[in-house]
Amino acid sequence: MARTIVVSGGGTGIGRAVAARFAADGDRVVIIGRRADVLEKAAGELGATALPADLSEPAQVERVRAALADRFGSIDVLDNNAGGNVERHGDLGGVAERWTANFRANVLTAVLPTEAFRDLLNPSGRIVFISSIAAFRRSNGTSYGPMKATLHPYAFDLAAALGPRGITVNVVAPGYIENTEFFRDTMDDERRATLIAQTHTGRAGTPQDVAETVYWLASPGAGHVTAQIIQVNGGAERGR
Ligand SMILES: NC(=O)c1ccc[n+]([C@@H]2O[C@H](COP(=O)([O-])OP(=O)(O)OC[C@H]3O[C@@H](n4cnc5c(N)ncnc54)[C@H](OP(=O)(O)O)[C@@H]3O)[C@@H](O)[C@H]2O)c1
Repeated sequence: MARTIVVSGGGTGIGRAVAARFAADGDRVVIIGRRADVLEKAAGELGATALPADLSEPAQVERVRAALADRFGSIDVLDNNAGGNVERHGDLGGVAERWTANFRANVLTAVLPTEAFRDLLNPSGRIVFISSIAAFRRSNGTSYGPMKATLHPYAFDLAAALGPRGITVNVVAPGYIENTEFFRDTMDDERRATLIAQTHTGRAGTPQDVAETVYWLASPGAGHVTAQIIQVNGGAERGR
């Protein structure tokens, strides 16, 4: 039976691959992001519904919640994928600005939709957060890793609270994933080679690697897997 799947940041990169994976099953897929044009294009290609919004803004999250309730009534899967290391993407000034920006980009974009949509989840529903290898090791001197790590105990508390409703809550923490907008113009051949050399698999991760993991966590067979963090990094976090 078709399910209703909500993917934040579903217009690009990992989120788009997650949306495509569920759409391939005939599920109803809703993608959320700030850039309406990017979102509409992806939605058209995937047969998904685009709901443009900045998920760090409570009023916009409430608007999305109302649209979901109105159009679908309930949802089955919430993939909190929106995020990124905004310290590297802008000309942010001091420490407070940089940490606040990454808090908004990685914590609020996950916590606000979760709190707003949790009562829409059906029994056997799923919540998945997208964290990062940066939450387990160094974060290039940025607040990105600390902000992703914030999501882990939040997910564990949610898993305890929602378990009695049959809902699982898990975290997927990718390593280096190429073919996304994450690195923008900061990636070069030397850095890419360094990141690949850290893996045991000898390759970069792909959005599909992460999408298949989210898809599995959302499957009936993963119903007893909750409050876990699944790392998708080719072993890179363990070190060579
Ligand atoms: N690529 C990697 O190597 C890697 C590794 C570990 C973890 N991750 C994590 O994986 C997730 C997906 O990133 P990606 O690699 O696929 O990069 P990406 O292509 O930049 O995707 C990020 C998505 O999030 C959306 N987004 C960002 N801020 C938002 C906001 N305030 N409200 C709504 N949507 C927002 C963006 O769309 P708009 O700009 O249009 O809003 C974009 O579609 C992120 O959480 C990232 O931190 C990535």
